[in-house]
Amino acid sequence: DEDKLYRYKGILYPSLMCPEAHLKALENMEAREEDLMLVAYPKCGFNWMVGVIRKIITEATGVKSENKMPPLIEFMGPQVLKALNEIPSPRFLGAHLHPDNIPASFFEKKVKILLIFRNPKDTAVSFYHFCNNNPVLPSVKSWDSFFSDFMSGDVPWGSYFEHALAWEKRMDDPNIMLITYEELKQDLCEGVRQISTFFGFNLNNSQVQLIAEESTFKAMKTSTTNSHGLGDILFRKGEVGDWKNHFTPEQSREMDEAFNKHLAGTRLGAKLNY
Ligand code: PPS
Repeated sequence: DEDKLYRYKGILYPSLMCPEAHLKALENMEAREEDLMLVAYPKCGFNWMVGVIRKIITEATGVKSENKMPPLIEFMGPQVLKALNEIPSPRFLGAHLHPDNIPASFFEKKVKILLIFRNPKDTAVSFYHFCNNNPVLPSVKSWDSFFSDFMSGDVPWGSYFEHALAWEKRMDDPNIMLITYEELKQDLCEGVRQISTFFGFNLNNSQVQLIAEESTFKAMKTSTTNSHGLGDILFRKGEVGDWKNHFTPEQSREMDEAFNKHLAGTRLGAKLNY
C-alpha cells in the first residue's frame, strides 16, 4: 500500500492516477477564456456536478458528451493535455487541486470556475469509505486513524482546511461561484438554475426541472452503474449527516474547533452554514 501515494510540492497524490509527470505537465497547460471549470476538494460532490454540467451543456447546445470519465486535469498527462488543444470550445474541465496548483492560466484568462464544497464531517466520512473501496488508494486501517490523517491534511490532495482557506481569498472573484453540497440537497432545481446562469447558458424551467430530476442521487447512481460500473464507489449514500454514524463526540468537538479556528467569520465558512 505504501507506494500508492507520493508527495508533490508537499501534498499527497495517488501515484497511479496522478504521477509526477501529470502534475508537471499542468504547469504549461493553456486554459481558454471559454473553458468551463469545476473544482472540488475530494468527496465534496464533484461527480454530482459533472453530471449536472454535462446535462446543462447538452440541453443548451444539443451536443451530447460521449465522454464518461471525470474531466480531472491532473489525471490527463501530457498526451491528453496536448489533444485538448484541438477540441472545440467550450471545453469542460475539472480538478480536485488546491488553487495554488491549478494552472495559472485559468486565473489569468478569467475562466469561470464552479467550486463545490461540503461540510467537513461528511466529507471526511465519504473520503474514508472511498479509500477503503478504491484499489488505487491505500486502504485505511480504521476510521480513527483516517480521521487523524484527515485532520492533519495527510490525505490525497491535502488538507480540507488549507483548500478552503485558499479559496476564501478568492471569494470576491466574480469568475468563481461557490455552491455547497448541502444547498444542492435542499433545492437541486435552484442549484441547476444558478449553475447554468453562471456558465452563461439560458435554460427554461422545464429544462432545469428535467436536469434536476435526472441528477438525484438515485437517478445518477443507476445511470452510472449501467454505464461504467463505478457507481457503487462514486455513489455511496448521498446524504447530509452521515457523519453522525461515524464520529465520536470527541472527534466532533475536534472538528468543530478546527472549523472555528480556520473558517469562523469567513465568507466560505458562512456559506457552509456549519
Ligand atoms: S470524488 O471521488 O472525490 O470525485 O468524489 P465526489 O464525487 O466529489 O463525492 C462523492 C460523494 O458525493 C455523493 N454524490 C451525491 N450526493 C447527492 N446527490 C447526487 N446525485 C450525488 N452523486 C454523488 C456520493 O454519494 C459521495 O458521498 P457519500 O457521502 O460517500 O455518499
